[in-house]
Amino acid sequence: MTGTGPEIQETIDTARPHPARVYDWFLGGKDNYPVDEELGRRIAAIDGGAPKAARANRAFMRRTTRALAAETGIRQFLDIGTGIPTEPNLHQIAQSEVPDARVVYVDNDPIVLAHANALLRGTPEGVTEYVQADARDPHAILHQAARVLDFGRPVALSLIALLHFVADEDGAHDLVETLVGALAPGSALVLSTMTADFEPENVRKGIAAYAAGGVTLVARTHAEVGAFFRGLRLLEPGIVSVAEWRPEGAPDGPISLYGGVAIKP
Ligand SMILES: C[S@@+](CC[C@H](N)C(=O)[O-])C[C@H]1O[C@@H](n2cnc3c(N)ncnc32)[C@H](O)[C@@H]1O
Repeated sequence: MTGTGPEIQETIDTARPHPARVYDWFLGGKDNYPVDEELGRRIAAIDGGAPKAARANRAFMRRTTRALAAETGIRQFLDIGTGIPTEPNLHQIAQSEVPDARVVYVDNDPIVLAHANALLRGTPEGVTEYVQADARDPHAILHQAARVLDFGRPVALSLIALLHFVADEDGAHDLVETLVGALAPGSALVLSTMTADFEPENVRKGIAAYAAGGVTLVARTHAEVGAFFRGLRLLEPGIVSVAEWRPEGAPDGPISLYGGVAIKP
């Protein structure tokens, strides 16, 4: 486990809310502090759909990981913006389909590092590793992930509910291009990120509440999300609300997160 890149925090700051812990609160987890719960409650009061969106996003992670592991033959996973462990975690899904799957998790929040042991309990045949790094330093991530992943073979790169924390001017597109550029043909990009396309007023108020808590969020249109997938072949059903990506039952809606999965030709 290593720390590198811009603005890697080394200690857990309990005085201000953190995205990973607010998300944990939305999911009903216990790894959050009063400041996180307070912001979570404020956002849920404005946008009652926020906890539902967190659950729908988590279910998108499960369905996309299972689909890639079961249907594409991909055996390596690089998950950036992992969050606090919430069972089932990505490696558990991937390794239940492909027991020797190799998984590298990356997050820049020290609270995720503090829980990394839970992320490292994988199958004996597989490998799971955790790297503390910042998504805005993709070269450092690739360098460290290469200790576990063979970038000469396909890798599923997941950026799930991550990119709304990185503005375009902070390098959101550069980081995706750099990471995807390092992947072999047959690799996949799995991405979900916030949009105001479905519920503009709620999302605008939610962004304002996060901003008051010191967390900057970016909402993107369908076309803006599509730009992250440039040069890749989108799998059906394309870029849709995360609840509508190959739903297992009747999809919840509307969920203010777009999601999609694409393969690198
Ligand atoms: C909403 S959680 C999503 C967790 C998980 N991917 C999921 O979808 O269930 C977003 C995560 O991204 C992490 N994150 C935010 N900005 C980041 C950055 N610049 N580098 C690395 N991780 C980041 C946060 O710490 C948090 O754990």
